[in-house]
Amino acid sequence: MSNIQDKVVIITGASSGIGEATAKELASKGAKLVLAARREDRLQKLQAESEKSGGKAVYKVTDVTSREQMEELAAYALEKFEKIDVLVNNAGIMPQAFMFKKMVDEWDQMIDVNIKGVLYAIAAVLPSMRERKSGHIINLSSVAGHNIYPGGTVYCGTKFAVKAISEGLRQEEAISGTNIRVTNVSPGAVSSELVETTSDAETKAGLNEFYKVAIEADSIARAIAFAVEQPSDVGINEMIIRPTVQVG
Ligand SMILES: NC(=O)c1ccc[n+]([C@@H]2O[C@H](COP(=O)([O-])OP(=O)(O)OC[C@H]3O[C@@H](n4cnc5c(N)ncnc54)[C@H](OP(=O)(O)O)[C@@H]3O)[C@@H](O)[C@H]2O)c1
Repeated sequence: MSNIQDKVVIITGASSGIGEATAKELASKGAKLVLAARREDRLQKLQAESEKSGGKAVYKVTDVTSREQMEELAAYALEKFEKIDVLVNNAGIMPQAFMFKKMVDEWDQMIDVNIKGVLYAIAAVLPSMRERKSGHIINLSSVAGHNIYPGGTVYCGTKFAVKAISEGLRQEEAISGTNIRVTNVSPGAVSSELVETTSDAETKAGLNEFYKVAIEADSIARAIAFAVEQPSDVGINEMIIRPTVQVG
Protein backbone atom coordinates (compact mmCIF):
# COMPACT_ATOMS: atom_id res chain seq x y z
CA MET A 1 0.00 0.00 0.00
CA SER A 2 1.25 3.47 -0.86
CA ASN A 3 2.35 5.62 2.07
CA ILE A 4 0.03 8.27 0.58
CA GLN A 5 -3.11 6.14 0.93
CA ASP A 6 -5.60 7.77 3.35
CA LYS A 7 -3.31 10.71 4.19
CA VAL A 8 -5.32 13.90 4.66
CA VAL A 9 -3.77 16.62 2.50
CA ILE A 10 -4.75 20.29 2.39
CA ILE A 11 -3.71 21.93 -0.90
CA THR A 12 -3.91 25.71 -1.23
CA GLY A 13 -4.03 27.12 -4.76
CA ALA A 14 -5.58 23.85 -5.96
CA SER A 15 -7.60 25.47 -8.76
CA SER A 16 -4.79 25.47 -11.35
CA GLY A 17 -1.18 24.65 -12.21
CA ILE A 18 0.98 22.88 -9.64
CA GLY A 19 -1.76 22.70 -6.99
CA GLU A 20 -4.21 21.06 -9.38
CA ALA A 21 -1.57 18.62 -10.69
CA THR A 22 -0.60 17.72 -7.11
CA ALA A 23 -4.23 17.03 -6.25
CA LYS A 24 -4.55 14.67 -9.21
CA GLU A 25 -1.28 12.87 -8.42
CA LEU A 26 -2.12 12.38 -4.73
CA ALA A 27 -5.74 11.41 -5.47
CA SER A 28 -4.53 8.64 -7.78
CA LYS A 29 -2.51 7.33 -4.81
CA GLY A 30 -5.52 7.29 -2.47
CA ALA A 31 -5.12 10.55 -0.53
CA LYS A 32 -8.00 12.37 1.15
CA LEU A 33 -7.87 15.89 -0.22
CA VAL A 34 -9.02 19.24 1.11
CA LEU A 35 -8.86 21.55 -1.90
CA ALA A 36 -8.66 25.31 -1.41
CA ALA A 37 -8.58 28.37 -3.71
CA ARG A 38 -10.92 31.23 -4.62
CA ARG A 39 -12.45 29.87 -7.88
CA GLU A 40 -15.22 27.52 -6.82
CA ASP A 41 -16.09 26.15 -10.29
CA ARG A 42 -12.50 24.87 -10.68
CA LEU A 43 -12.52 23.29 -7.22
CA GLN A 44 -15.85 21.57 -7.88
CA LYS A 45 -14.54 20.04 -11.11
CA LEU A 46 -11.29 18.91 -9.46
CA GLN A 47 -13.17 17.38 -6.55
CA ALA A 48 -15.21 15.26 -8.97
CA GLU A 49 -12.12 14.21 -10.96
CA SER A 50 -10.17 13.34 -7.80
CA GLU A 51 -12.94 11.11 -6.51
CA LYS A 52 -13.15 9.34 -9.86
CA SER A 53 -9.44 8.52 -9.78
CA GLY A 54 -9.56 6.84 -6.37
CA GLY A 55 -9.10 9.61 -3.83
CA LYS A 56 -11.57 11.27 -1.52
CA ALA A 57 -11.93 15.03 -1.86
CA VAL A 58 -13.74 17.97 -0.37
CA TYR A 59 -13.18 21.63 -1.13
CA LYS A 60 -13.57 24.98 0.58
CA VAL A 61 -13.40 28.36 -1.11
CA THR A 62 -10.55 30.08 0.72
CA ASP A 63 -8.55 33.27 0.30
CA VAL A 64 -5.15 32.59 1.86
CA THR A 65 -4.71 36.28 2.71
CA SER A 66 -7.46 35.91 5.32
CA ARG A 67 -6.21 34.47 8.59
CA GLU A 68 -9.79 33.70 9.57
CA GLN A 69 -10.51 31.76 6.36
CA MET A 70 -7.30 29.75 6.77
CA GLU A 71 -8.30 28.78 10.30
CA GLU A 72 -11.75 27.80 8.98
CA LEU A 73 -10.10 25.67 6.28
CA ALA A 74 -8.06 23.72 8.82
CA ALA A 75 -11.15 23.30 11.04
CA TYR A 76 -13.09 22.02 8.00
CA ALA A 77 -10.37 19.44 7.26
CA LEU A 78 -10.51 18.22 10.87
CA GLU A 79 -14.31 18.11 10.79
CA LYS A 80 -14.36 16.07 7.55
CA PHE A 81 -11.35 13.78 8.06
CA GLU A 82 -10.39 14.13 11.77
CA LYS A 83 -6.69 14.85 11.12
CA ILE A 84 -4.34 16.79 8.86
CA ASP A 85 -1.33 14.82 7.65
CA VAL A 86 0.02 17.17 5.00
CA LEU A 87 -0.26 20.85 4.07
CA VAL A 88 0.78 21.75 0.52
CA ASN A 89 1.30 25.49 0.95
CA ASN A 90 1.13 26.29 -2.74
CA ALA A 91 -1.01 29.38 -3.49
CA GLY A 92 1.12 32.11 -5.02
CA ILE A 93 1.23 35.01 -7.47
CA MET A 94 4.07 36.52 -9.53
CA PRO A 95 3.35 40.07 -10.69
CA GLN A 96 6.89 40.98 -11.69
CA ALA A 97 8.29 44.34 -12.86
CA PHE A 98 11.34 46.55 -12.27
CA MET A 99 11.05 48.36 -8.94
CA PHE A 100 11.21 51.85 -10.51
CA LYS A 101 7.76 51.16 -12.01
CA LYS A 102 6.51 51.49 -8.44
CA MET A 103 3.78 48.85 -8.61
CA VAL A 104 3.39 49.04 -4.87
CA ASP A 105 -0.10 47.51 -4.80
CA GLU A 106 1.32 44.41 -6.49
CA TRP A 107 4.18 44.27 -3.95
CA ASP A 108 1.55 44.31 -1.21
CA GLN A 109 -0.43 41.52 -2.91
CA MET A 110 2.67 39.36 -3.30
CA ILE A 111 3.59 39.82 0.35
CA ASP A 112 0.00 39.04 1.39
CA VAL A 113 -0.36 35.87 -0.72
CA ASN A 114 3.18 34.50 -0.95
CA ILE A 115 4.38 35.24 2.60
CA LYS A 116 1.44 35.98 4.89
CA GLY A 117 -0.73 33.32 3.21
CA VAL A 118 2.01 30.74 3.80
CA LEU A 119 2.34 31.80 7.45
CA TYR A 120 -1.43 31.78 8.09
CA ALA A 121 -1.65 28.25 6.67
CA ILE A 122 1.19 27.03 8.89
CA ALA A 123 -0.43 28.68 11.91
CA ALA A 124 -3.73 26.97 11.10
CA VAL A 125 -2.39 23.40 10.83
CA LEU A 126 0.50 23.35 13.32
CA PRO A 127 -1.48 22.95 16.59
CA SER A 128 -3.28 19.76 15.51
CA MET A 129 -0.13 18.33 13.91
CA ARG A 130 1.86 18.99 17.12
CA GLU A 131 -0.88 17.43 19.21
CA ARG A 132 -0.71 14.26 17.10
CA LYS A 133 3.12 14.43 16.91
CA SER A 134 2.83 13.87 13.18
CA GLY A 135 2.61 16.03 10.09
CA HIS A 136 4.24 17.31 6.93
CA ILE A 137 4.35 20.91 5.70
CA ILE A 138 5.35 21.42 2.07
CA ASN A 139 6.04 25.01 1.04
CA LEU A 140 6.31 26.17 -2.58
CA SER A 141 9.31 28.45 -2.88
CA SER A 142 11.01 28.77 -6.29
CA VAL A 143 14.34 28.97 -8.09
CA ALA A 144 13.54 32.66 -7.41
CA GLY A 145 14.03 31.77 -3.73
CA HIS A 146 17.65 30.89 -4.53
CA ASN A 147 18.61 33.36 -7.30
CA ILE A 148 17.82 37.05 -7.78
CA TYR A 149 17.24 38.58 -11.22
CA PRO A 150 16.14 42.02 -12.51
CA GLY A 151 12.37 42.44 -12.50
CA GLY A 152 11.92 39.64 -10.00
CA THR A 153 13.16 41.56 -6.97
CA VAL A 154 10.00 41.55 -4.85
CA TYR A 155 8.86 38.10 -6.03
CA CYS A 156 12.35 36.76 -5.19
CA GLY A 157 12.07 38.44 -1.78
CA THR A 158 8.84 36.57 -1.08
CA LYS A 159 10.31 33.25 -2.23
CA PHE A 160 13.53 33.76 -0.21
CA ALA A 161 11.19 34.35 2.74
CA VAL A 162 9.39 31.04 2.07
CA LYS A 163 12.74 29.23 2.00
CA ALA A 164 13.75 30.85 5.31
CA ILE A 165 10.38 29.98 6.88
CA SER A 166 10.71 26.35 5.72
CA GLU A 167 14.20 25.90 7.16
CA GLY A 168 13.42 27.72 10.42
CA LEU A 169 10.25 25.70 10.95
CA ARG A 170 12.11 22.48 10.15
CA GLN A 171 14.74 23.22 12.80
CA GLU A 172 12.13 24.25 15.41
CA GLU A 173 10.09 21.08 14.93
CA ALA A 174 13.21 18.88 14.86
CA ILE A 175 14.46 20.34 18.15
CA SER A 176 10.97 19.97 19.67
CA GLY A 177 10.75 16.29 18.67
CA THR A 178 7.29 16.68 17.15
CA ASN A 179 7.95 14.39 14.19
CA ILE A 180 6.75 17.13 11.81
CA ARG A 181 8.53 17.15 8.45
CA VAL A 182 9.12 20.27 6.35
CA THR A 183 9.83 20.26 2.62
CA ASN A 184 10.79 23.33 0.61
CA VAL A 185 10.04 22.86 -3.10
CA SER A 186 11.72 25.19 -5.60
CA PRO A 187 10.48 24.81 -9.17
CA GLY A 188 12.03 26.46 -12.22
CA ALA A 189 9.83 27.33 -15.19
CA VAL A 190 6.59 25.33 -15.08
CA SER A 191 3.60 25.72 -17.44
CA SER A 192 0.69 27.21 -15.46
CA GLU A 193 -1.34 30.39 -15.16
CA LEU A 194 1.37 32.09 -13.05
CA VAL A 195 2.79 34.31 -15.82
CA GLU A 196 -0.72 35.74 -16.29
CA THR A 197 -0.37 37.38 -12.85
CA THR A 198 2.31 39.70 -14.29
CA SER A 199 0.58 42.86 -15.53
CA ASP A 200 3.64 44.77 -16.80
CA ALA A 201 3.67 44.17 -20.58
CA GLU A 202 7.45 44.46 -21.00
CA THR A 203 8.21 42.01 -18.19
CA LYS A 204 5.49 39.64 -19.37
CA ALA A 205 7.00 39.51 -22.89
CA GLY A 206 10.34 38.51 -21.35
CA LEU A 207 8.66 35.89 -19.15
CA ASN A 208 6.79 34.39 -22.11
CA GLU A 209 10.14 33.97 -23.88
CA PHE A 210 11.75 32.44 -20.75
CA TYR A 211 8.80 30.07 -20.25
CA LYS A 212 9.18 28.53 -23.73
CA VAL A 213 11.23 25.75 -22.06
CA ALA A 214 8.72 25.25 -19.23
CA ILE A 215 7.99 21.73 -17.99
CA GLU A 216 4.52 20.45 -17.09
CA ALA A 217 3.05 20.94 -13.62
CA ASP A 218 2.85 17.19 -13.04
CA SER A 219 6.68 17.13 -12.87
CA ILE A 220 6.40 19.06 -9.61
CA ALA A 221 3.43 16.99 -8.45
CA ARG A 222 5.51 13.81 -8.76
CA ALA A 223 8.31 15.37 -6.67
CA ILE A 224 5.78 16.38 -3.99
CA ALA A 225 4.34 12.84 -3.98
CA PHE A 226 7.89 11.48 -3.54
CA ALA A 227 8.38 13.63 -0.43
CA VAL A 228 4.97 12.63 0.98
CA GLU A 229 5.45 8.90 0.45
CA GLN A 230 8.74 8.60 2.37
CA PRO A 231 8.61 6.81 5.74
CA SER A 232 7.91 9.23 8.61
CA ASP A 233 11.54 9.22 9.84
CA VAL A 234 12.77 10.55 6.47
CA GLY A 235 12.44 14.26 5.68
CA ILE A 236 13.00 15.47 2.13
CA ASN A 237 13.87 19.05 3.05
CA GLU A 238 14.86 20.78 -0.16
CA MET A 239 14.05 20.10 -3.80
CA ILE A 240 15.01 22.20 -6.85
CA ILE A 241 13.29 21.04 -10.03
CA ARG A 242 14.15 22.85 -13.28
CA PRO A 243 13.60 22.11 -16.94
CA THR A 244 16.78 20.29 -18.00
CA VAL A 245 17.67 23.15 -20.37
CA GLN A 246 16.98 26.04 -17.91
CA VAL A 247 20.22 27.86 -17.11
CA GLY A 248 19.46 30.31 -14.25
N1 LIG B 1 4.91 28.03 -12.52
C1 LIG B 1 6.17 28.27 -12.20
O1 LIG B 1 7.02 28.45 -13.08
C2 LIG B 1 6.60 28.32 -10.76
C3 LIG B 1 7.97 28.34 -10.50
C4 LIG B 1 8.38 28.43 -9.18
C5 LIG B 1 7.46 28.47 -8.15
N2 LIG B 1 6.13 28.45 -8.44
C6 LIG B 1 5.20 28.56 -7.31
O2 LIG B 1 4.28 27.50 -7.36
C7 LIG B 1 3.05 27.90 -6.76
C8 LIG B 1 1.89 27.54 -7.68
O3 LIG B 1 1.99 28.31 -8.86
P1 LIG B 1 1.46 27.82 -10.28
O4 LIG B 1 2.60 27.88 -11.20
O5 LIG B 1 0.71 26.57 -10.15
O6 LIG B 1 0.51 29.08 -10.64
P2 LIG B 1 -1.05 29.19 -10.98
O7 LIG B 1 -1.43 28.22 -12.03
O8 LIG B 1 -1.25 30.65 -11.24
O9 LIG B 1 -1.74 28.79 -9.61
C9 LIG B 1 -1.73 29.64 -8.50
C10 LIG B 1 -2.82 29.19 -7.54
O10 LIG B 1 -2.83 30.07 -6.41
C11 LIG B 1 -4.17 30.42 -6.13
N3 LIG B 1 -4.24 31.72 -5.47
C12 LIG B 1 -3.77 32.92 -5.88
N4 LIG B 1 -4.10 33.88 -4.99
C13 LIG B 1 -4.80 33.27 -4.00
C14 LIG B 1 -5.43 33.72 -2.80
N5 LIG B 1 -5.40 35.00 -2.44
N6 LIG B 1 -6.07 32.80 -2.04
C15 LIG B 1 -6.11 31.51 -2.40
N7 LIG B 1 -5.54 31.02 -3.50
C16 LIG B 1 -4.90 31.90 -4.29
C17 LIG B 1 -4.89 30.42 -7.47
O11 LIG B 1 -6.26 30.11 -7.29
P3 LIG B 1 -7.50 31.14 -7.31
O12 LIG B 1 -7.12 32.23 -8.27
O13 LIG B 1 -8.65 30.30 -7.74
O14 LIG B 1 -7.63 31.60 -5.88
C18 LIG B 1 -4.21 29.24 -8.16
O15 LIG B 1 -4.86 28.03 -7.84
C19 LIG B 1 3.18 29.40 -6.48
O16 LIG B 1 3.51 29.59 -5.13
C20 LIG B 1 4.34 29.81 -7.36
O17 LIG B 1 5.01 30.94 -6.89
C21 LIG B 1 5.68 28.36 -9.72
